[in-house]
Amino acid sequence: MNEYVPGLEGIPATKSNISSIDGGKGILSYRGYPIEVLAERSTFEEVALMLLDGQLPTVAALKEFDQHMRKNRRIKFRIRELMRQLPPTAHPMDMLQAMVSCLGMFYPGSDCLTEVGACTDLNYVHNMSVKIMARLPTMIAMWEHIRNGYDPIEPRTDLSHAENFLWMLSGEEPDRYIARILDICLILHAEHTINASTFAVLVAGSTLASPYGVIASGIATLAGPLHGGANQQVVKMLEEIGSPDKAEAYIANQLANKRKIWGFGHREYSTKDPRAIILEILMRKLVEYKSGNVGPLFEVALAVEKVATERLAGKGIYPNVDFYSGVLYKEMGIAPDQFPSVFAMARCAGWLAHWKEQLSNNRIFRPTQVYTGELNREYIPLEKRG
Ligand code: COA
Repeated sequence: MNEYVPGLEGIPATKSNISSIDGGKGILSYRGYPIEVLAERSTFEEVALMLLDGQLPTVAALKEFDQHMRKNRRIKFRIRELMRQLPPTAHPMDMLQAMVSCLGMFYPGSDCLTEVGACTDLNYVHNMSVKIMARLPTMIAMWEHIRNGYDPIEPRTDLSHAENFLWMLSGEEPDRYIARILDICLILHAEHTINASTFAVLVAGSTLASPYGVIASGIATLAGPLHGGANQQVVKMLEEIGSPDKAEAYIANQLANKRKIWGFGHREYSTKDPRAIILEILMRKLVEYKSGNVGPLFEVALAVEKVATERLAGKGIYPNVDFYSGVLYKEMGIAPDQFPSVFAMARCAGWLAHWKEQLSNNRIFRPTQVYTGELNREYIPLEKRG
């Protein structure tokens, strides 16, 4: 087939049994389990292991995985020292991309990928996955302190993944209710078929690049505002709007000027994103838990959803996962430019599952193109070009 399809819309890039989307019905499943069930009954740790291994783990397997993750949370002090050399204005996703690449120098072991059978060495793939998943939150939280001129807070082994992240960010004993909300957010962001960053991960993985480089490719791709960077843009937009009564005029003006509404639209869904539905419910629960003592952004978001949906639903454009996540993270005390990093720390579970799947049946990605340039041009010497 030589027809070029912009954005590869509708073109299968791989075969996968990790997750599935029915975009017309608004259904998302991981390994066949609907996202709503996982959000209600599972934990991020269990979902991450299920994504990697393909089935819900036994009690013993989950315990072992959880312990393994907890033991791998610490990072070498030289990585912390490297972080101190970065400009405090650096975007957290740039820091994360750089520091994940650095992990590959401090915790090597990828050379074996060129050995026969290494691609299917499940222990190697599993150990690398744990090292990366466990350390990402540590680096994100450490950066928050380092960039503000403070010493970072060491991870603890007596807390869950979400609880420990909140602990490292604030240095305060995590609120269990809020940690569970974050845990569900991580579940919702853990995987989403062949999106742009997962595709980048597949391409990098197919060259047998080190897993740290593979995940750095995913982070770089996720950072864009059309992808995981949108959650930061949503909160910026809601803050600009300021109050619910200003939503109508703001949205009308944006659309009249052909600007996108952040947190709206999706290549795969022509309905409201099922994750946005759950995130909105979580936000309502958080408002109730805090006895209504929350900032104004949720009310503004509800107003934006109403007016933007009235105008865009005809095109199948509804809120996506990034629409409510930032509002929730802000209420948890997370800085807006860290929202994409929180997305990355969840999505790395899905990226690693796809890396494993790619390695199990690897062939390097090498698509073709439709050449639109000239051929056989005459080379004019420099002095004769005028
Ligand atoms: N606000 C306003 N209009 C939007 C829109 C949005 N958020 N998203 C898509 N559209 C419109 C486009 O202007 C275009 O209209 P047209 O056909 O009249 O020109 C049409 O819908 C198709 O949009 P397009 O950008 O080609 O769709 P896509 O599938 O290539 O892109 C996204 C999907 C997600 C990149 C796109 O919806 C977007 O930019 N959304 C905002 C960023 C965002 O929230 N990203 C996070 C995704 S999880």
